[in-house]
Amino acid sequence: MLRKLVFVGALGAGIVLDPDPIVDVVVLALDPAVDVSVPPPDPIQPAKTQMAATETICFMFSLLCPGPLLVVQGVRRKRRHGIARFGATTCRSVQFRQAFYRSLTGLRPTGATHYAARMTYSAEIFMTGTPGLESALLAEAQANGFADARRIPGGVTFNGGWEDVWRANLTMRGATRILVRIGSFMAFHLAQLDKRAKKFPWAEMLRPDIPLRVEVVTSRKSKIYHAGAATQRIEDGLKANGYQINPDAPIAIKARIDDNRVTISIDTSGESLHKRGHKEAVGKAPMRETLAALMLRECGYDGREPVLDPMCGSGTFVIEAAEIAAGLLPGRTRRFAFEQLASFDADAWNDMRQMRVDAPRPAAHFHGSDRDAGAVRMATANAERAGVGDLITFANLSATDLQRPDGPPGLIICNPPYGGRIGNQKMLYGIYAGLGETLKSRFAGWRVGLVTSEAGLAKATGLPFKPKGAPIPHGGLKVWLFQSEEL
Ligand SMILES: C[S@@+](CC[C@H](N)C(=O)[O-])C[C@H]1O[C@@H](n2cnc3c(N)ncnc32)[C@H](O)[C@@H]1O
Repeated sequence: MLRKLVFVGALGAGIVLDPDPIVDVVVLALDPAVDVSVPPPDPIQPAKTQMAATETICFMFSLLCPGPLLVVQGVRRKRRHGIARFGATTCRSVQFRQAFYRSLTGLRPTGATHYAARMTYSAEIFMTGTPGLESALLAEAQANGFADARRIPGGVTFNGGWEDVWRANLTMRGATRILVRIGSFMAFHLAQLDKRAKKFPWAEMLRPDIPLRVEVVTSRKSKIYHAGAATQRIEDGLKANGYQINPDAPIAIKARIDDNRVTISIDTSGESLHKRGHKEAVGKAPMRETLAALMLRECGYDGREPVLDPMCGSGTFVIEAAEIAAGLLPGRTRRFAFEQLASFDADAWNDMRQMRVDAPRPAAHFHGSDRDAGAVRMATANAERAGVGDLITFANLSATDLQRPDGPPGLIICNPPYGGRIGNQKMLYGIYAGLGETLKSRFAGWRVGLVTSEAGLAKATGLPFKPKGAPIPHGGLKVWLFQSEEL
């Protein structure tokens, strides 16, 4: 089995040396203009110079890398503004790599092996997450094969190519959005911003037929501090390049002006990633799927144990848990903004969506209950739409009537009503005390994860919670995930 495939870039754009000792094959991808089979007749031609450079580089690689060296054509990349750019030929390279992988291994590219074939030139990709849960997001990114992922406030960053962007959107349960940094430049005043926005190579990433919207964040350290004026200049730059601006446009261009540097990103997700596309019905205070997934991870859930939510509302926790156990990818059915970018390759994307996931096949069963019959109906319908209806048993029960299910112990996780949102305080304390009593008396061996906005409510359960972690923003409030050891 092929362990690792390294692609190195086009001549003229710089060569990245990756003398990795476990590389099987190094592929040197040449500029499409260079004919590798027939050397150009005129020795003064630039192509000839490139050929000579190619030979030297091939020789260097043969010394550095133990595996065979393959030279192929068809990839061209550009670098500008010191940031790697994704050129219009990206789709070509995606198709090329997949075809190459197939020819080499006879396998359809799936999962991690396929993505070992990585892009040489990469941009910075930012997975936005939920503040307070960055470690869980980082752990998920690493588990999903984004090996160089690093934790930063509010999310995780890594370097990669367009395939990584698609894969992050497709596979990351905890990320809210996937942003790609497409370039940056200095601008000390609005006229300079205007000029540079007009010259920015938008056409390398954006399609002329797709309208755009611009969102700008400025910092006090910058001379340009008025976000509205900056937005207008960037919009003007886009209009001058033939793009339409529309506040409801599917693609958001995000600019951040920090210390007079304008960093331009594209939001490749479109609708927030918590919208998996299966939940139509929601109750009074639904948990976002992204947050539920991160909390499940924080509680140590890895898809192998039963999960029970005694106050399941629209069923978010148990549906997420069952999907993880069944190896279903969170973005399997929804659409993404990147499908409307110049780099999109529908064939390569369809191949990626068929990706297999090493799932711990659900031996476990999942349980959701709620005292509100309407919530139970909603949760049941949501689970059916998500394709996990047969893995979850829903029941219309008060938490105090909950019975321990047959089988091994697992994780109980819920967000009972709290704060000023639903119900009054006295009643809430009664609900938490009743829940705690039931769990202590009938659920020995199970762990508990409880989400609430007040430590006093968690305490009212009488459950042996560990010290609380970082606050997590949820629905305009701060909440905490209280966790117990096995009861
Ligand atoms: C904040 S919502 C949970 C939202 C849910 N996690 C979701 O994603 O939709 C709280 C739920 O607890 C339920 N509930 C309140 N008291 C309950 C009790 N004593 N027993 C069972 N369910 C209860 C409510 O009907 C409501 O659906």
